Amino acid sequence: MSIALNSPNTAVIVTGGASGIGLASARALAQAGRAVALWDINGDKASAAAAALKAEFGVEAIGVCVDLSNADALAGALQTTRAALARIGGLVHAAGVVDTGSLEGVTLAVWEAGINTHLRPLILLVQALLPDFKANPGSAVVGIASINATLGNHVNPVYSAAKGGMLAMVRSLADRLGMDGVRINCVSPGQIVTPMLQPAIDYLPKGTFEKRILLGRMGQPEEVGRVVRFLLSDEASYITASEIVVDGGNISSQRM
Ligand SMILES: NC(=O)c1ccc[n+]([C@@H]2O[C@H](COP(=O)([O-])OP(=O)(O)OC[C@H]3O[C@@H](n4cnc5c(N)ncnc54)[C@H](O)[C@@H]3O)[C@@H](O)[C@H]2O)c1
Repeated sequence: MSIALNSPNTAVIVTGGASGIGLASARALAQAGRAVALWDINGDKASAAAAALKAEFGVEAIGVCVDLSNADALAGALQTTRAALARIGGLVHAAGVVDTGSLEGVTLAVWEAGINTHLRPLILLVQALLPDFKANPGSAVVGIASINATLGNHVNPVYSAAKGGMLAMVRSLADRLGMDGVRINCVSPGQIVTPMLQPAIDYLPKGTFEKRILLGRMGQPEEVGRVVRFLLSDEASYITASEIVVDGGNISSQRM
């Protein structure tokens, strides 16, 4: 079975590509034959993951060490990526950090880490990549938001603000990018078993998350990665400015 159907033959930058949902997205894209650049603050892990994807799927893949919360670092990472990969036609912004200290834990540093990791790089990268996207038909962008953009949880106010901001910003960018035939969407995962969620899984009583999820289980990163791959393919050619929720029926649930 070929899964490359309708996948543009262009490279995709995946931020947070060394782990979890970013890595699963990169793997799904590589499986469809797309070259990938894994951008991550953990450069060694990104490079090792890129080498593994290259070996498994025979695609071009590089790891790029970059701190996305440093706006000055983006140009260098882009230069490295453009030099290594021929045509860039996709961006997945999956890098993320989560605050867990509720209102009392908010400091300027926590605020800046949240907003400058989730929100600022997305708009700066879309701006910088627009010439690449315009040159490559079928180009598209996916921002990884969260069900916390919609659900109120006292634990992570900065994270929730950043993810809600991402939904709004993506709708605005979709208007601008649509003028050049470029699509942009959000994927909002629910509880997905990754290193980011693991401390909460370990801390909370067993079954805490599962009891309100209609499918009765947490998700796997691959279940998000496949949706990202779809949104970056021509199969999704009429989808822009949308949020696709991948949560096993969490935010629709009234289970007690
Ligand atoms: N796991 C979940 O349940 C869940 C739910 C909803 C949304 N999300 C979102 O999915 C995305 C991926 O999260 P994950 O669960 O895969 O977590 P993860 O911790 O496995 O992966 C996040 C990656 O981002 C990288 N990163 C963090 N800060 C960075 C920075 N400043 N510059 C570059 N790289 C940086 C990390 O090194 C890591 O590799 C995040 O945006 C997260 O908010 C996750």
